[in-house]
Amino acid sequence: MAKQIEALNAEFALPNQLRFQSGENGLPKVQIDNGLATAEIYLQGGHITAFQPRGCEPVLWMSLLAQFQSGKAIRGGVPVIWPWFGPHAIDKHKPQHGFARTTEWQVSATKSLPDGSTQLQLQMKDTPATHALWPHAFELNLTVTVGTELKIELTSRNTGEQTITVGGALHSYFAVGDIEKIHIDGLLGHNYIDQLDGNRIKQQSEAIHIRQEVDRIYFDTEDTCTEGICAIFDAQLLRQIYIKRTGSCSTVIWNPWENKAKAMADFPDDGYRQMVCIETANAVDDVRHLASGETHTLSQIIGL
Ligand code: BG6
Repeated sequence: MAKQIEALNAEFALPNQLRFQSGENGLPKVQIDNGLATAEIYLQGGHITAFQPRGCEPVLWMSLLAQFQSGKAIRGGVPVIWPWFGPHAIDKHKPQHGFARTTEWQVSATKSLPDGSTQLQLQMKDTPATHALWPHAFELNLTVTVGTELKIELTSRNTGEQTITVGGALHSYFAVGDIEKIHIDGLLGHNYIDQLDGNRIKQQSEAIHIRQEVDRIYFDTEDTCTEGICAIFDAQLLRQIYIKRTGSCSTVIWNPWENKAKAMADFPDDGYRQMVCIETANAVDDVRHLASGETHTLSQIIGL
């Protein structure tokens, strides 16, 4: 492991901006500190576990009980969900939310940008292990840009001959002061699938307030889908977090509330009070069909 970190630093470290380190349980992570913000990204899952603009409180929520184990999903931050969202459509034995979040990504480049931000590019390609779960050739690139805002771009490329169907999400966990003192704007008038009520379709008729377990997939129709923006208004932390999305016509809002939190080993019993997930997604009918050589980019910008 120490050798891997040393080799990564020799090739990709950026003085005074970006270094590779041994993270929890020895998993390799990238530490960025560039004067505008700090961030931390694990190579396992291409998983952003921290983002904090200079002088601000952490933007992302991380579970204090998160397990950092090879091949296991990390709870909190921004898990990369791909190539399917939720349970596999046909085979329930395949991992929930696909395999990108549990696979170690390769570093392809690091860059300092003229505005003082720092960019990390990660890549994943198909292997025998991915073929066992999803029999397709692909290249997946994740670009994380850390500045006053956090930009995450996930580009899928079909490197095979047959058309592939990709779904996924940037499953972002946001830190909030108190779940009962926030509201979420940006989805007024949208229809959603209520995953806790037999997948019934409902309409959002006001700003979103969360007072119980919530698991909803909001969707746009083809002609209303444009670049979108959601905002979390936090009356306790006295701040607003905005999330701008592109390449996505579906947004997932999730909070497990008390009972589900208690049932998850990697989630503190009362942790649901300090988090909410707003996921920039390609879920349900919003999956993308890519012919040979085609690409699709799902991206989001997070800021205060
Ligand atoms: C959300 C789903 O995206 O992720 C929920 O809509 C799910 O149904 C949640 O419970 C967490 O999933 P996981 O696999 O990380 O526990």
